[in-house]
Amino acid sequence: MDIIVYTAQLCKYFGSFTALDNLTISVEKAEIFSLLGPNGAGKTTAMKLLTTLLKPSSGDAFINGVSIRKDPFKVRSMIGYVPQMISVDGTLTGYENLLLFAKLYDIPSKEAKQRVKQSLEFMNLEDSAHKVVRTYSGGMIRRLEIAQSMLHRPKVLFLDEPTTGLDPLGVQTVWQRILELKKQFNTTILLTTHIMEEADKLSDHIAFLSGGKLAAAGTPGDLKKSLHMKGVTLEDVFIHYTKESADSERSFRETAKERKITSRLG
Ligand SMILES: Nc1ncnc2c1ncn2[C@@H]1O[C@H](COP(=O)(O)OP(=O)(O)OP(=O)(O)O)[C@@H](O)[C@H]1O
Ligand SMILES: [Mg+2]
Repeated sequence: MDIIVYTAQLCKYFGSFTALDNLTISVEKAEIFSLLGPNGAGKTTAMKLLTTLLKPSSGDAFINGVSIRKDPFKVRSMIGYVPQMISVDGTLTGYENLLLFAKLYDIPSKEAKQRVKQSLEFMNLEDSAHKVVRTYSGGMIRRLEIAQSMLHRPKVLFLDEPTTGLDPLGVQTVWQRILELKKQFNTTILLTTHIMEEADKLSDHIAFLSGGKLAAAGTPGDLKKSLHMKGVTLEDVFIHYTKESADSERSFRETAKERKITSRLG
């Protein structure tokens, strides 16, 4: 087993709030690994730490053996990132967006043009390459963002909710392209999603986060088996593992509130 992403007791605090609590996970080379969990579970925070956009409060993580703390610049050269929010320029064409990024990645100009052309073809965008991006549909923008994140042939690709807001056909196209990236380029892909069908279809391994903590991890099949019931879906698994911590968080908050009131009452 070849581990390419490893997090060791990774923590992120925002003031007194713990967004990510001692996350330890390993991702194998050329696999698709999904980080799942309710809104606010810490998925985007984990991705921002791994892509060096945020600094860990404690703990560390390694991409291909390189520490995100000690050598963030080297980490950046090995990864691609498609954020939850739009990351392309609407006033430029698809082609111009990609060429700009190729420059940013220091790809020599002759090769850059070739790679941009290849990427547009790979993402089925060649017909719209010279249209300004503000005229693109949501699905086309997502595909352009993936093309952009792949230009420098990263070892690890981070996709934060790659199919949110896309129509069924757009979703299918992005799924196909993700599977193809893994197959053709041996890219390791870490993704987040709220669509359990997507996670089930694409993932080799899944980690469930809840309240910043790792709630469960395994293959989709093993996670379903762990519920010891017939006909279990990944949605059932999601609810099973993330509901408990959500409940305990609530009760913790309730308890804290009660204590505060009690102490005020003296
Ligand atoms: N810069 C910040 N300052 C303060 N709190 C933050 C900051 N960024 C994130 N948080 C908090 O950390 C928690 C985790 O946020 P994060 O964006 O990682 O969640 P998520 O799992 O990606 O959720 P979603 O499914 O809604 O995208 C949330 O409670 C959020 O409000
Ligand atoms: Mg998020």
